[in-house]
Amino acid sequence: MSTPRPTLTEDNGSRFLRACLRLPVDRTPVWFLRQAGRYMPDYRAVRQHHSLLDICRTPDIAAEVTITAAEFLGVDAAIIFADLLLPLTPMGLDFEFVADEGPRVHAPIRTADQARALRTDRTEDLLYVSRAIAKVAAHFAPPRADGDQLGIIGFCGAPFTLASYMIEGGSSRNYIETKKIMYASTPTGVPTLSSCHSEHCEESPHLSSVSGPGSDAWHILMEKLVTVLAEYAAQQVAAGADVIQVFDSWVGALSVSDYRQYALAPTTDLIARIRALGVPVIYFGVDTASLLPAMSETGADVLGLDWRTPLDHAWRALNYSVAVQGNLDPIALFAPEAVLHARVAEVLAAAAGRPGHIFNLGHGIVPNTPVDAVLAVVHQIKSGNH
Ligand code: CP3
Repeated sequence: MSTPRPTLTEDNGSRFLRACLRLPVDRTPVWFLRQAGRYMPDYRAVRQHHSLLDICRTPDIAAEVTITAAEFLGVDAAIIFADLLLPLTPMGLDFEFVADEGPRVHAPIRTADQARALRTDRTEDLLYVSRAIAKVAAHFAPPRADGDQLGIIGFCGAPFTLASYMIEGGSSRNYIETKKIMYASTPTGVPTLSSCHSEHCEESPHLSSVSGPGSDAWHILMEKLVTVLAEYAAQQVAAGADVIQVFDSWVGALSVSDYRQYALAPTTDLIARIRALGVPVIYFGVDTASLLPAMSETGADVLGLDWRTPLDHAWRALNYSVAVQGNLDPIALFAPEAVLHARVAEVLAAAAGRPGHIFNLGHGIVPNTPVDAVLAVVHQIKSGNH
């Protein structure tokens, strides 16, 4: 299944990949979070006949949806059509997407015993995602008209954000159950993920006796998620993903100190394992202004910026040590043409042509976004008319 990867030098690689690595590019690469979604008539047409999970689990359809969106928009990268929650199934957690509500996990994790029962040995059940990636990679193997190679993005959730779905059972406002489990876990200083591994960790009498039932749940969950997500990402890279984006969409719910104490180590572990596969990692979260310096310690090559953070401030605060992706407000796509044009120009001006900027939104395209506005942004970026 593996596709040979070109060595990135000054003379080859796609502009998207080059930007991930902070190499100079002919123009800013652009793609959109949720570029295949309900705002797009083609996607809605496919959804009339297939559920979201059917699309994800049928490689031909997932590949087609991915390819159609990337080609229609004329963007520089295609993100594989899948969902963050797919790994829950082989781990043993059933879920569904409820219309107008979002994901619902049937038996959310609330105890260490439930976390212990999660399985990490069925990751091959997720290979349908890699099969779709192989199809997308084959489709985009020839260079495009402008000679550039389209980037293929695989993705997975970050440990905190996936754990929040597993514990809350769905989307959440205050993450009360998640934080209860987090705060009940063994404090830093005694064995945590970085110093304990696999079966040994689960059976450690030290960890399981610390502060009553449930106290190990967080660390067990983190460790199991890192195991499964690293394997899942490796499948995607073997199938032809050029880059892996790690979605930590809800990490902005954490204070800097809680992020450092409960999320940084497992996320660093996951990102290190993915980078060891030879691909750059984009690490994305929302509401992360204060977390960005800590997030950069994960070793990610690119940080996704939400629109609340001015791109130039955020990048400077990171000492330009990583590439950045973002950060137009997705709701600016509903603004009058001239206002949208000015907002796009603002983002480009903040990046100032420095190598290592990938244009994107600060979060996903929402339903009912005018398709023409998305196309206008792509046109503006390609035309250099800023
Ligand atoms: O082009 C793309 O980006 C589409 C591929 C994609 C989907 N989900 C398909 C999807 C990606 C990258 C995701 C990731 C994902 N899934 C995230 C992280 C990205 C982010 O937005 O922060 C999260 C948090 C999820 C979990 C999830 N999936 C939720 C909360 C929902 C419901 C929200 C809603 O808008 O209804 C989904 C459903 C979902 N996944 C949709 C799509 C296109 C929309 C629902 C549909 O088609 O029925």
